[in-house]
Amino acid sequence: MIKYPVVVVGSQYGDEGKGKVTDILAKDADYVVRYQGGNNAGHTVVVGTEVFKLHLLPSGVIYGKPSLIASGVVLDPRVVVQEVAKMKAMGKEVDIMIDPLTSIIMPYHNVMDGISETALKDNMIGTTKRGIGPAYADKYSRKGIRFVDLLDKDIFKKKLHENFILNKKIAEKVYGTDFGLDEDEIYKEYTNLAQQIKKYLGDVSKVVHDNIDSKKIVFESAQGTFLDITFGTYPYVTSSHPISGAVFTDVGFAPRRLDCVAIVKAYTTRVGSGPFLTELFDEDGKHMLDIGHEYGTTTGRPRRCGWLDLVMLKYSTRLNGFTSLAITKLDVLSGLKKVRVAVRYMIEGREVEFPLTIDQLEKCTVEYREFDGFTIDTNAKTLEELEPNARQYLRFMEDFLGVQISIVSIGPKRDETIIV
Ligand code: GDP
Ligand code: IMO
Ligand code: MG
Repeated sequence: MIKYPVVVVGSQYGDEGKGKVTDILAKDADYVVRYQGGNNAGHTVVVGTEVFKLHLLPSGVIYGKPSLIASGVVLDPRVVVQEVAKMKAMGKEVDIMIDPLTSIIMPYHNVMDGISETALKDNMIGTTKRGIGPAYADKYSRKGIRFVDLLDKDIFKKKLHENFILNKKIAEKVYGTDFGLDEDEIYKEYTNLAQQIKKYLGDVSKVVHDNIDSKKIVFESAQGTFLDITFGTYPYVTSSHPISGAVFTDVGFAPRRLDCVAIVKAYTTRVGSGPFLTELFDEDGKHMLDIGHEYGTTTGRPRRCGWLDLVMLKYSTRLNGFTSLAITKLDVLSGLKKVRVAVRYMIEGREVEFPLTIDQLEKCTVEYREFDGFTIDTNAKTLEELEPNARQYLRFMEDFLGVQISIVSIGPKRDETIIV
């Protein structure tokens, strides 16, 4: 049983099904809050025959709940306008609030994201090229433009000019690339965008503070624990903190105990470069790609697929303090003869925890536990209706991690869900 307030966290490399689970929790919630990342995220919610793909707006918008974007997010104002319009076209009026302290993703961030990726050649991170890294870099080097700055034309003009000149110089002189942007055009477009979206501004930190004890709040994370800027597989990570603890600094409220539901895909996927110890290059991996439709919501890239990794999840559990597990996409494993799960990492004959560096990760060999396969009836409403082999697989996860399952998702739709 999940209690509000609750943080929804990706326990793996992202795309675990946070959108679907957040939507389910949003039904009884008063607020849904996105607290980090930007439109690098792609959260899909399926309602009947309709498919909603959200990159920036919190998944609470589908139930029409007040949906808040906290100051830890990097905000592309073009995407705000596009997503609100898209939702309107799908018959949804959105009720959103954006914190004035959110950092703005500017067109030069997108350009710099692309240029630095190209320069990395074989070592490229495989970013979404949405300007996320450069926008966070500007925030932390205190050069960033925040929503409040967009509203003051003089401040915006000055900050834009300084940043534009600096980025242009770096693009042209360091990387030898054509910058291809026009400062005046950006100024006009962004002052206009600011006017369009200023009606959504509001103090998200205060709303959360004032309502956390009396109302039901869901905090929706983007990306996943192993893409965390500090604790992920650095440098193959994103530039924010998708872990649960970040909710306090990214929203701006005092630490307290929160329920934290781990979104765990029943296998593992990763988009972009970086280590992936249980990755499959065989028919089983192809089964996951095809049956799971494992193509990125944001970039359309095929996701790399592999077995569930409980060594990773043990580390994830420690970092996030999971109070329950939401297992997703169990149905995708239907039809495999055997299902494997990583249970131990070894370096030179010694068992190790999930290593802190990619050099150490590369030295690991993985030991697996094997389970007999199962078929999932996507109409099941209770765990008892699942085949014994599927139940055994789930019970093993709970025992290994010492955390109980609260949700099992067996299809993309709302009703293809077992609430435990
Ligand atoms: P997120 O980024 O964590 O929100 O996950 P994505 O939306 O990027 O990727 C998850 C994909 O799996 C989406 O297309 C969902 O519609 C779909 N999905 C979610 N849960 C299930 C499930 O239990 N079974 C199946 N087959 N698909 C699911
Ligand atoms: P959701 O919220 C999966 C990955 C990119 C790349 C790395 C850095 O849908 O789970 P970035 O553009 O953030 O600088 O890219 O992080 N990545 C994601 N992978 N799901 C996501 O979001 C991701 N957001 C970023 O593929 O490897
Ligand atoms: Mg996604």
